[in-house]
Amino acid sequence: MRIAILGTGTVGRTLAGRLAGLGHEVSVGTRDVEGTRARAEWTYAAPQLASFADATADAEVVVNASGGTVTMDVLAAAGEDHLAGKILVDVSNPLDFSAGFPPTMFVKDTDSLAEQIQAAYPLTRVVKTFNTMSADIMVDPLSLAGGDHTIFVAGGDAHAKTTVTGLLREFGWTDVLDLGDLQAARGLEMWLPLWLRLYGTLGTGSFNIKVVR
Ligand SMILES: NC(=O)c1ccc[n+]([C@@H]2O[C@H](COP(=O)([O-])OP(=O)(O)OC[C@H]3O[C@@H](n4cnc5c(N)ncnc54)[C@H](OP(=O)(O)O)[C@@H]3O)[C@@H](O)[C@H]2O)c1
Repeated sequence: MRIAILGTGTVGRTLAGRLAGLGHEVSVGTRDVEGTRARAEWTYAAPQLASFADATADAEVVVNASGGTVTMDVLAAAGEDHLAGKILVDVSNPLDFSAGFPPTMFVKDTDSLAEQIQAAYPLTRVVKTFNTMSADIMVDPLSLAGGDHTIFVAGGDAHAKTTVTGLLREFGWTDVLDLGDLQAARGLEMWLPLWLRLYGTLGTGSFNIKVVR
């Protein structure tokens, strides 16, 4: 599958590396191709780096792995035409670090960043997933508790969720819990204050939700 990753932070690099390793055709979007290429963090085979627009143009699936406060700028740079009709996997969290740590949420309760993306790009099929855990667990669930834990998907397009669930299964996920339409993203994003508190308490991001039922 042709997959564009919009974001070169920990999440973008981790997802790009894993997807490329599985044989997908991955392009990674960034503002400054040469500057990003020169950065030292690229520990796996050099990805196909491109502008946000060029990375997105031929993709079948686009992953938003940008910071929440810049997500709308990144998607605008990718281009409405390039996003139309495509699946957009939204990994972002609406965290505002401008006043320090812990961050506040700039949207919550009655709306979510995923819903704002969907409203701004009605022809794009947004699926919220991955945002409730650290990047290393996203791509390697078996590394934690033998994979006995949960990942969520939410979105209004059933076919898009089926495609994304297929990618999750390639990563090794077995407990994929479909929470229904994109309104579920409110709860998925509001998990973050507790995630951050657990991170501080446990001293590691190696934990996840297990929904026991
Ligand atoms: N880190 C985790 O483990 C984790 C886990 C779950 C969810 N998330 C969420 O995933 C998203 C990505 O997190 P991250 O830590 O990997 O990366 P990040 O540092 O939040 O974002 C990196 C990306 O943001 C872009 N960016 C920064 N400022 C920009 C601006 N003014 N305009 C346009 N683009 C800008 C950067 O572009 P350049 O490439 O041009 O520098 C880079 O591609 C966030 O929303 C985060 O909350 C993270």
